[in-house]
Amino acid sequence: MIILGINAYHGDAAAALIRDGRLIAAAEEERFNRIKHSAGFPAAAIRWCLQEAGIDITQVDHVGISRDPSAHLHKKVLFAATRAAKQVSLGRLRGAEVVETLDTTSTSQNGKSNGRGTGVLQQVRDRLQNAARVRDLKDELARLFEIPKAKLRTEFHNIEHHRAHLASAFYVSPFDRAALLSIDGFGDFISTMWANGAGNSIEILGQVEYPHSTGIVYTATTQFLGFPHYGDEGKVMGLAPYGTPRFINEFRDILRTEEGGRFQLNLEYFRHHAEGVEMTWDQGSPVVGRIFTDEFAHTFGPARLPGDPLTDRERDLAASLQLRLEEVGFHILNHLHEITGATDLGLAGGVAYNSVMNGKILLNTPFKRIFVQPAAGDSGTAIGVCYEIYNGLLRHERGAVMTGAYTGPEFAPERIQAAIEDVKVPFEIYSDEEVTKRAARDIADGLVVGWFQGKMEFGPRALGNRSIVVDPRRADMKDILNERIKKREPFRPFAPSILEECVGEYFEQTHPAPTMLMVYQVRQQKRSQIPAVTHVDGSGRLQTVSREVNDRYYQLISDFNKLTNVPIILNTSFNENEPIVCTPEEAINCFLKTKMDVLYLGNYALRREIPEGF
Ligand SMILES: [Fe+2]
Repeated sequence: MIILGINAYHGDAAAALIRDGRLIAAAEEERFNRIKHSAGFPAAAIRWCLQEAGIDITQVDHVGISRDPSAHLHKKVLFAATRAAKQVSLGRLRGAEVVETLDTTSTSQNGKSNGRGTGVLQQVRDRLQNAARVRDLKDELARLFEIPKAKLRTEFHNIEHHRAHLASAFYVSPFDRAALLSIDGFGDFISTMWANGAGNSIEILGQVEYPHSTGIVYTATTQFLGFPHYGDEGKVMGLAPYGTPRFINEFRDILRTEEGGRFQLNLEYFRHHAEGVEMTWDQGSPVVGRIFTDEFAHTFGPARLPGDPLTDRERDLAASLQLRLEEVGFHILNHLHEITGATDLGLAGGVAYNSVMNGKILLNTPFKRIFVQPAAGDSGTAIGVCYEIYNGLLRHERGAVMTGAYTGPEFAPERIQAAIEDVKVPFEIYSDEEVTKRAARDIADGLVVGWFQGKMEFGPRALGNRSIVVDPRRADMKDILNERIKKREPFRPFAPSILEECVGEYFEQTHPAPTMLMVYQVRQQKRSQIPAVTHVDGSGRLQTVSREVNDRYYQLISDFNKLTNVPIILNTSFNENEPIVCTPEEAINCFLKTKMDVLYLGNYALRREIPEGF
């Protein structure tokens, strides 16, 4: 039984493939086409998934996509009825078009601006096209593989967006029963959905509909603070600890809680519900159209322009926004616990990338264990689709648990060697035992080390297979990384990878965080020992590393621990202002154009300067 899951025409297009319930492959399209957050049809990811499974498209039994244009139709119609009256009276839109404009931001098929204008009618055209494509997946696949449609014996499914998120948070979790929360900007007219997961079923218990969304509040404020790109919300989360939440009352008015775990936006602050929001592209990266209205400026003063200096006002706005998100998150979760009685929680949706909020859940709710889908954003719905079909619809026994996120391409030593020989640079080869020892010594010597191993990660975090790793004890490492490679805003923190058994020694909480989606406080007395990975408020977005989940990465940190008595290394993603590297060629190219000191690819090593003795 082969199932292919797809997220398409939506940020972070991706594909995943399962065989008899086992997760064989999952990857984002951006890693192949090298366009950040690519939003078109994930053609290359699909091709790779099939290649990884050793099959062709005609052997796939089920294909699903994480969109269902017919979902929540009555609610869409109800909402549209109000708007259509206004719009038609202005002679701008027909009622049916209004319904189609209600889903998430508009993107053209190839994820690039098509240059045909940016007006409301253009948005409508794009959205109608996208909705049609979601319905005509069979056509799209037949075209992609250049075969007659009749040859596809596959059954096709539209899985509602949040159901796909919920499935990704439950069916691959270690829990037989759990409370589930999906929380994002929007998908299929919904921003937040909560449920009870038990065995092979996900029972929806509540939802918040368009236009109310915590994700929209975060994105709108992120834009107002002068960070315009898709995915910039993480920057504001990093900025928040520098400020004090002196605007919390304003944010409590902008985002209001209601009975039953629900919330509402003060719509005066937002334009998405009235005018729609378009996504355009800037040098390959998505830019979401302006969501906030002038009400933001009336309340907080003028918007910061990108590149303007950051002042206390921006820091305080970020702190207030972050605090309000946490308050509302715990409001939903406490309600969810009340109605389910569950102490295990599965979490997904783009807002679940807010690792600061995630790290506080155990402190502010009765939940005891949390599984956050590693690809909590929309790429992870590709996995959700697969398991919603396999476990939810077809009722097959569960058994797959995602302990890490290593589901992407890996490359044989021959391919790595060929890639190195192509660029004609000297290299060394180490044994399995030597390679981690040697790299640990390089890290302890203060070198910037590229670490390219095994299968590429799924989701936004590099987890020790496509990583750049350095010594967390050196306070200047943050600046060195930024100067030489990452060029990030100086206020953004870098993250620690720590041996799982040492977490309690260094952090105030110990719940495992194997996919770097929790932020905990570093113990007071340890902060000065690891300054490069301790944020301004004493926190760290940690990755807990166990031998079972990533043997080689565990060994690397162990060897570093043996040399330094610190079981932690700084881990940042292997890229320079581009999607994380996928292939050895991309890793070597990044190594050559940046000022990385040494690059390990499997057991091979390239050095910028060959040290004595080699
Ligand atoms: Fe989503």
